[in-house]
Amino acid sequence: MGQPAPGTRLCAVTDLGDPGARGFSFGSGRDFFSLFIVRRGDRILAYVNQCPHAYTTLDYPDDRFLTSDGEEIICGTHGARFDIDSGRCTLGPCLGRRLTPFAITITPDQFIETG
Ligand code: FES
Repeated sequence: MGQPAPGTRLCAVTDLGDPGARGFSFGSGRDFFSLFIVRRGDRILAYVNQCPHAYTTLDYPDDRFLTSDGEEIICGTHGARFDIDSGRCTLGPCLGRRLTPFAITITPDQFIETG
């Protein structure tokens, strides 16, 4: 899989809205791998960009991962919603299942890197 090596710099904390989210993709074909970072307040988390329902990427074509009120993650394929902090599906066809967490670190100079 095209999963990035630990220590791969993704973006600056200030590149994310609050609330906000941003996706990052690596590789292609069978090596394709995608993750997204979501920020709400002091919390910055990352998940594998794959919905536990039909295993598509979650984002809408405009790189949108959040509901319009910024309160939850939403899947652009069938509209499932996920709790930002836990990744647990709260509404939709994969109710109760979870997004896969992805390890990240925040550097002292406020950049986000793969963990
Ligand atoms: S693929 Fe996400 S809700 Fe169906």
